[in-house]
Amino acid sequence: TTVEWEAESYDMGGHDTYMHKEISEQPEAVDRVLRGRIDDRFSTVHLGGLNLDAREARGIRRVKILGCGTSYHAGLIGAGLIESLARIPADAEPASEFRYRNPVVDPDTLYIAVSQSGETYDVLAAVQELKRKGARVLGVVNVVGSAIAREADGGTYVHAGPEVCVVSTKCFTNTVVAFALLALHLGRIRDLSVSEGKRIIAGLRRLPAQITEILESEADIKKLAEEYAGAQSMMFIGRVRGYPVALEASLKLKEISYIHAEAYPASELKHGPLALIEPALPTVAIVPDDDLLEKNRAALEEIKARSGRILAVAHREQEKADHTIVVPKNENELDPILMGIPLQLFAYHTALAMGRDIDKPRNLAKSVTVE
Ligand code: G6P
Repeated sequence: TTVEWEAESYDMGGHDTYMHKEISEQPEAVDRVLRGRIDDRFSTVHLGGLNLDAREARGIRRVKILGCGTSYHAGLIGAGLIESLARIPADAEPASEFRYRNPVVDPDTLYIAVSQSGETYDVLAAVQELKRKGARVLGVVNVVGSAIAREADGGTYVHAGPEVCVVSTKCFTNTVVAFALLALHLGRIRDLSVSEGKRIIAGLRRLPAQITEILESEADIKKLAEEYAGAQSMMFIGRVRGYPVALEASLKLKEISYIHAEAYPASELKHGPLALIEPALPTVAIVPDDDLLEKNRAALEEIKARSGRILAVAHREQEKADHTIVVPKNENELDPILMGIPLQLFAYHTALAMGRDIDKPRNLAKSVTVE
């Protein structure tokens, strides 16, 4: 069985699809997840429902994040945020894999279950298995009062509002922002300095206006999408923080356009997928202006040398790319939040150009409540 949203009960607000409506709502949604949580006096954030005191927060030795689909991808970015801001080793794994491998459950690990619906069976089953073994589990969930939210020891709601389209957009973005808040919170209890806390808070506050700026470039992204819509297959690459962005962008494209897409760490190209590169296989490359810029540019050169077409998402024009979508720069840690957004629009307009049923892609359900 699957949970069906009562789609009729939500107004489309002048948009042709829920997906378009939900992409457009992101500035307000992000504003909502930030609201009331920032504490400028201590350069930190407060998350009311964590049920984790400062002493417990200092005792965490590892963080393990579990989710499925888009929520897993949000968890990968979340793990990166927790490692960089709180300096706690963190990783994410599909909940569906975790629960079947008899995982070693460690009392010093903080487990975090991520789910938009709060009902995904694989995630719920992983949470129940963890709790049975005595682990501490937090939920990062959108739907208030959902099964995973109730089962967890504490957590935070992501406040994205109702998401109707089967594929997740605004909830993905809000989940990543919620992870940034959690990472900042844990960081400021541990070793993140006041000035670093201030820097991240200022970055968080810039997000809604920067998202608006990205949404204003929709007409240009639409043109690009129409140009690439003929491709049989597409490659998505990114490095470190950019890799989960590539994974999520490739998932979005697959889900709604049915174009085959693969995501690879840019660093792994030379270990196999370079063999695929030719003019008929375009690459979407995530190229932030950070310490890895030169490395990412080298990957673009490798692709260009094999006559591959390149669409870059970057902070300035990339000369090796055939096209660049330029996005506003934030702090390095928060850039993935912004770099994913034009690629939601890219997937959307590709699917639209191909006449797909965007809100209800074939074979998929909004919420998978069975094994
Ligand atoms: C389904 C949906 C995906 C979603 C995943 C996890 O497979 O089609 O879009 O990412 O479930 O859903 P959740 O509600 O747990 O985030």
